[in-house]
This record gives sequence, C-alpha cells and structure tokens, in this order.
Amino acid sequence: MKKTFGILGCGFLGSIVATAYQRGFLDEYDFIGAYSHNEADIDRLLSVAGEGKAFTSVDAIIDAKPDMLIETASVAFFKSMAVQALEQGISLIPLSIGSFADKAFYDEAMQTAQANHAKIYIPSGAVGGFDVLQTVSLMAEAGVDHNHPFGRENEVTDHKTEVHTHKNPGPIMGTKLFSDEVISQMKTVFDGTAEEAIEILPTQVNVMVAAALASSGPEQTGAKITTVPGFVGDDHRTVIETHGIRGVVDIYSSTSAIAGWSIVALMRNLASPMEFF
Ligand SMILES: NC(=O)c1ccc[n+]([C@@H]2O[C@H](COP(=O)([O-])OP(=O)(O)OC[C@H]3O[C@@H](n4cnc5c(N)ncnc54)[C@H](O)[C@@H]3O)[C@@H](O)[C@H]2O)c1
Repeated sequence: MKKTFGILGCGFLGSIVATAYQRGFLDEYDFIGAYSHNEADIDRLLSVAGEGKAFTSVDAIIDAKPDMLIETASVAFFKSMAVQALEQGISLIPLSIGSFADKAFYDEAMQTAQANHAKIYIPSGAVGGFDVLQTVSLMAEAGVDHNHPFGRENEVTDHKTEVHTHKNPGPIMGTKLFSDEVISQMKTVFDGTAEEAIEILPTQVNVMVAAALASSGPEQTGAKITTVPGFVGDDHRTVIETHGIRGVVDIYSSTSAIAGWSIVALMRNLASPMEFF
C-alpha cells in the first residue's frame, strides 16, 4: 500500500515537492493535500501537484492522519506543531531544522516520536554529507585508534566540525551582524557555534544546525559566516576532522532548490528496497 503525505508551507520549497510528485518522482506515495497560512500559496501548490485537498488548519491536516508531513514553512511554525503530529504517530520531514537547536524542543520531539512509533527524517538540504558526518563522529566517539589493525581503545575521542557559509550580505541586514563595510567588501561577520548562529539568524542557518546534529551537536559545532558583496546563492563548506580522517562537504547552490529536492530524494530512498546512507 502506498504511503500518504501532506505538505505544510506552500512556498518555493514545498512547491518543489509538489512538482516532483506531479512529474512521477514520488510514485510510491499518495499526496493528501497541503496547509499554509496563505490560501493563495495552497491553491498554487495544489495546481502544481495536480491533486490534493486544501486544508484550512494544522489540526485538520493532522486529523487526516497522513503517514508523513513535510514541513517547508518556518522554525516557529514547525516548533508549534511537531509534537502534536508526532503524538498521532505521523512522521515528519522538516526543512526548518534550526528548530532542533532548542534542546528542550529536541528532547520533547525525540521522546514523542519514540513513544508513538513515528520518525523524524532530516533531509540533507543544502549541506549534505550526513552519512560522512555521522560516521566520522561515531569513529571518534568509539575512541579507537584506527591506525592499529585491531584498534586500541580510548586513544582517540576528539573530533571537530565546522561549517563555513559564504553568502550575500542581504540576509544579515537588520541583524547585529550588519555594518556598512559588508556592502563593499568581503567580511567574516560571524564566528562562533551553530547554537549561537541560530539565535542571531533564526531563518538563515538551518544548514548549520543540521550539520551539527549529524556530528558534534549545535553547542560544539563551529559556525562561520562570510558575506561577499554580489554573491549569488550560498556556499556551505562543512569540514569534519578526527585522528587520521578529514572529510569535506562543500555545496554551492545558486538557489535553495537543492533543499526541496533533497526531500524528494529522501522519500524515494525511504520507499526503495535499497537505501543509501
Ligand atoms: N534545511 C535546509 O537546507 C533549508 C534550506 C532553505 C530553506 N530552509 C527553510 O525552509 C523553510 C521554507 O523555505 P521556502 O523558501 O520554501 O519559504 P517560502 O517563504 O517560499 O514559503 C514558506 C511557506 O510557508 C508558509 N508559512 C510560513 N509561516 C507559516 C505559519 N506560521 N503558518 C502557516 N504557514 C506558514 C508561507 O505562507 C509559505 O506558503 C524555511 O524555514 C527556510 O528557512 C531550509
């Protein structure tokens, strides 16, 4: 039987999932419909998908009990409804991953998912490489000297992860990171942790929090933002290092479309007999 899904948030990224559905890339699923606080956005997304119901509230789409809800709205929105959906056993695929930098929310969501046999699937979005980040962190945590043929314990536990983003200064206008200098010259405007970054830029650093969750955690993961006048799109370079291993994932994207398509790729993976990690 096909799994069912709904979409929450019907803007640029939600519409990519609808496009993929209409074009037959999600044949293993049935689309039940969408919700957004903007009715025109819902109508546009449904016309792209070619089917589905316009839900007038979050409660209504949760009551319809799809197997999965895809969230492409905002951090505040996702935090307001995630636990309620998980309590109903609905699995979630959020793009507003910055939500999980809030430890209390993270813990509540994880416990609720577990108690109700639901899952939270984190798509690789605009950062990618979660397989490598998780594996290298695990190797460090295991504390084994990987240069020794059979491994010696407790010799290596250190690892570090840093995400360095290059972007246009536009998104930092109106924040405390902004200064007149950034209009005319390249500048590193933030150098701290992923947890600190999301406090200053709640809508801009989902990728940093996602990379952090897959590796060293938001408190420990380094985060650097460099603004470049005239830069089109974003470049996210994640580096993870532990004894004997250095992994680099560097994604440049001219728009955030890769985040929407990563949801589609994730759903296809989940429905396939062969899963890539
Ligand atoms: N994980 C990643 O790699 C990644 C990359 C880019 C964007 N994002 C995040 O994805 C989300 C969506 O991005 P987008 O470019 O599609 O945005 P968008 O502005 O094009 O669309 C957002 C949609 O959500 C709806 N919405 C927003 N707040 C809502 C609320 N409180 N209640 C109901 N509906 C609400 C809007 O009406 C709109 O339909 C954002 O949170 C963005 O930060 C994540």
